[in-house]
Amino acid sequence: MRLLFVCLGNICRSPIAEAVMADLVRLRRDSARWTLDSAAIGPWHVGSAPDPRALATLARHGLRTAHRGRQVAAADFSRFDQIFAMDRANLDALNRQAPPGALARIGLLGAHDPEGRDEVPDPYHGGDDDFEFVQAQVRRCCAAFLARVPDQG
Ligand code: 4NP
Repeated sequence: MRLLFVCLGNICRSPIAEAVMADLVRLRRDSARWTLDSAAIGPWHVGSAPDPRALATLARHGLRTAHRGRQVAAADFSRFDQIFAMDRANLDALNRQAPPGALARIGLLGAHDPEGRDEVPDPYHGGDDDFEFVQAQVRRCCAAFLARVPDQG
C-alpha cells in the first residue's frame, strides 16, 4: 500500500508521520509492502531537511529521516493509494488540486485517531511539547490505521 502524508510545509508534521509509520511497518516486519512519502501544500521548504525540532523529536523516539521537502504534484494523486492530510486546510487544498479521475483516497489522518482529534495541530510556532504532541498523535493514528489493514495481502 502506498501512503502520502501531507501538511503545509513538509518540514514538521508530515515528515514525522512518514517516519513514525515507517517505524510501525518495520516493527510488523512488513516494510516491503509499503511505499511511504510526504509532501507539502506550500512551496517554501522544497529541498529542505525537516525542521530541527522535528528531527529532535524523532531522535528522542529513536528515529531518523533523510526526507527533503517537496510539494504535492498531480502525479501523486495516482501514484498513492491514500493521501493523509494533517488538517482541514490541507484537505481542502488537496481536494482542489486533485485531477479529475484521481485514484488516491484523500482524507484526514486524524480520522483514525482513537482519541477523536481529527486534525494534527501545526507545531511550527510552538515548542518541543507541541512537537511531542504531534509525534504521539500521528503514532496512535498510524497504529490504528495499520490495525485495520490485514497482515497478508
Ligand atoms: P508543517 O509546519 O506544515 O507541519 O510542516 C509548517 C512548516 C512551515 C510553515 C508552516 C507550517 N511555514 O509557514 O513556513
